[in-house]
Amino acid sequence: MSKILVTGGLGFIGSHTVVELQNEGYEVVIIDNLSNSTLDVLDKITSITGKKPLYENLDLKNQESVQQFFKKHHTIAGVIHFAASKAVGESVEKPLKYYHNNISTLIYVLEEMRANNIKNFIFSSSCTVYGQADSMPITEEAPFKTAESPYGKTKQMGEDIISDTCKVSDLNAIALRYFNPIGAHETAKIGELPIGVPQNLIPFVTQTAAGIRAELSVFGGNYPTPDGTAVRDYIHVVDLAKAHTVAMKRLLNKDNKTSFEVFNIGTGKGSSVLDVIKAFEKATQTKLNYKIVDRREGDITEAYADTSLAQNELKWKANISLEDALASAWQWQKTL
Ligand code: UD1
Repeated sequence: MSKILVTGGLGFIGSHTVVELQNEGYEVVIIDNLSNSTLDVLDKITSITGKKPLYENLDLKNQESVQQFFKKHHTIAGVIHFAASKAVGESVEKPLKYYHNNISTLIYVLEEMRANNIKNFIFSSSCTVYGQADSMPITEEAPFKTAESPYGKTKQMGEDIISDTCKVSDLNAIALRYFNPIGAHETAKIGELPIGVPQNLIPFVTQTAAGIRAELSVFGGNYPTPDGTAVRDYIHVVDLAKAHTVAMKRLLNKDNKTSFEVFNIGTGKGSSVLDVIKAFEKATQTKLNYKIVDRREGDITEAYADTSLAQNELKWKANISLEDALASAWQWQKTL
């Protein structure tokens, strides 16, 4: 079976994708520098799938070690590139860290793929590339708007770098634009490990329910949405992980229509912050302490995906409901 390199394979989305790849019979090699993950995730993956993936602790910013790695693993058939920093606020404070971490590493990986004749590449992109889109649901045709943060810009630039490279080489690439990934594996062995105070909604919700935080602040109650709170498209991480296995299969089977393709990966359903709170309370039979406060700077009003392209081309769609996704996040929180 083909060998797939997963960079950032011990992270939140990476670890779930490794599990799905192994379930499909792929041999997986992980690169992770443990900057936002821990080594025990490797054992957790092994205990879920019964098979230990290969693993190298390597920092992709070190170009020489990237070169050595690819020399050693030149039989890799495809690369799924998750390794990147993702904290929006931090990226505003430390732009150079983000450009170096997210862009230099991408370039090194693409260079070594070219040097070793590896042609199949999947990139972690984000709905953040659209900014506040003019109409909902968002299709892949919607233009890039000015990104609010250096993090968002690295996703836009990343896509441009890959698309330019595809034009002049035999690289075949797919960028998956994730909407809001949430939840955890059904075994509750792997999930999202927020360091410090969570910035994202769901970890804050589960920590509040667990009594770690006193109260959830709902950022903004006067958005032009049905209940006044902001709307997002929350997708379960296992559904998202499965989108990567089908995308990789598409490249390996040469089913792609153009050398660079992009797909929205979401549920197609918009949920407000209050919808999330209600669904969480229902799924977990707990009461959540929350208060509506001012809007958070840089937030958009709404974003949810038109997923018809992924459905038609990848034959993929999200299956897990918001309630089940929130229940899985709660099961995971209870193990922490
Ligand atoms: C953010 C990033 C996105 C990134 C994603 C994953 C922006 C504009 N987008 O998405 O690029 O890919 O994180 O890291 O920064 N909320 C609260 N209270 C909280 C936390 C969040 O009300 O304590 C609200 C937010 O205002 C938002 C929704 O919950 O309306 C989702 O927030 P969050 O989980 O942070 O994701 P995004 O901001 O959508």
